[in-house]
Amino acid sequence: MKRIAIYPGSFDPITNGHLDILKRASKAFDEIIVLVAENDEKHSRFTVKERLEMIEGALKGIENVKVDSTKGLTVKYAKDHGAKFLIRGLRAVSDFEYEFTLNAANEYIDHDIDTVYFMSTIGHNFISSSYIDSLYSSGVDITSLVPKSVVEMYKQKK
Ligand code: PNS
Repeated sequence: MKRIAIYPGSFDPITNGHLDILKRASKAFDEIIVLVAENDEKHSRFTVKERLEMIEGALKGIENVKVDSTKGLTVKYAKDHGAKFLIRGLRAVSDFEYEFTLNAANEYIDHDIDTVYFMSTIGHNFISSSYIDSLYSSGVDITSLVPKSVVEMYKQKK
């Protein structure tokens, strides 16, 4: 049986930190679906279509990874796609509380889906999508923090 995992997130935009987690996780699973969560209540810099495009652009060379989006619950999507695991990254202790409650909510919805956590590697643990946006808006070079597809998208948006 194929071991499928879902890597859910806002990915607004995807960063090299996300990619690092994804590359490492892709060795542990047969297939990973990067799942962009569509949240109409949250202000997003990039549209879902743009986020999917940036992720697709960043995935070259990772064979067993697909990209999709959903407006629904992550665990529901996982179940519908035969996945028993979610993947999340942890950068620092400050991530723990959020991940703890998110995991509790997911577990409440579906006890059969487990979340596997990958610690971010040194050098990636300060990168967040919101920092990227602030840095870019302040004119700081972000090319070593995000995939090329993200830099291109920022340029197009200007
Ligand atoms: O990148 P983020 O914003 O930290 O990711 C959070 C995300 C998208 C994984 C989480 O909010 C999520 O799974 N949203 C979809 C709706 C859902 O399943 N919520 C979980 C319990 S209410």
